[in-house]
Amino acid sequence: MLIKKIVFAAAMLAPAMALGEAAAHLDHAGTDIHNDASLQRGARNFVNYCLGCHSAQYVRWNRVAADLGIGEAELERNLMFTGGKSYDTIKSAMPRAQATEWFGVAPPDLSLIARSRGTDYIYTFLRTFYADPSRPAGVNNLVLPNTAMPHVLADLQGVQTPRVELVTREGATEEHIVGLTGGSPGTLSGEEYDEFVRDTVNFLDYIGEPVKAKRQSMGVWVVLFLLVFWLFTYLLKKEYWKDIH
Ligand code: HEC
Repeated sequence: MLIKKIVFAAAMLAPAMALGEAAAHLDHAGTDIHNDASLQRGARNFVNYCLGCHSAQYVRWNRVAADLGIGEAELERNLMFTGGKSYDTIKSAMPRAQATEWFGVAPPDLSLIARSRGTDYIYTFLRTFYADPSRPAGVNNLVLPNTAMPHVLADLQGVQTPRVELVTREGATEEHIVGLTGGSPGTLSGEEYDEFVRDTVNFLDYIGEPVKAKRQSMGVWVVLFLLVFWLFTYLLKKEYWKDIH
């Protein structure tokens, strides 16, 4: 009976593991939500390059401004191009119905995307667009094959071309993409582009849980308090028991 169960479990696991292997390798994002300068740059990138299609409807502008140390006037001048009031949530400039009509699929709200997909995923996603004339937007993506999202950062990164190798498996020869190389160049160098994406992903990580930085720094104080409290409790216990032993 037990053996049967183990064999069953192994049979279930094998395809899952094969899938995991086939999935694109994710690069480490290396983001840091305590880095306010990076978050401010990320907010600017997000507004300039993502807000045209995506919203962040669980986040309010004034919350972002307060957390990132941006003044009200600066907020309205540099970030709130779509207008509205500082207590509004971050809405996309594009109506949902129109976006769905254009892309065939609505661009998802990005408030919680870093929590659902992970920062490494988004970091790799934004860096692995490549030229593919067979796609409607002329590009494809290593992490999300056949994505409906165009390469909106093509001006900055340029458009990479795939390095293809022929692989013969069970008599059939297939093309496999083994990597990407710089095709047409963009305005940023490779390193600058990675930094641009890192800041953007950092901002998405921050809006996924705006209290995270505070929660972490508070956690340190809580643990310190518990340690000091433990010391006093221990001394008190010694005091109570000293005549009994
Ligand atoms: C021109 C419109 C457009 C712009 C601008 C745009 N996106 Fe998208 N994005 C889309 C669409 C459409 C999808 C849905 C893709 C799909 O499901 O294939 C999408 C999907 C995504 C996803 C989800 C991928 C997944 O695994 O489901 C992420 C993350 C994302 N976009 C991030 C960004 C970021 C960050 C920016 C700004 C740098 C940005 N997008 C700018 C149209 C856009």
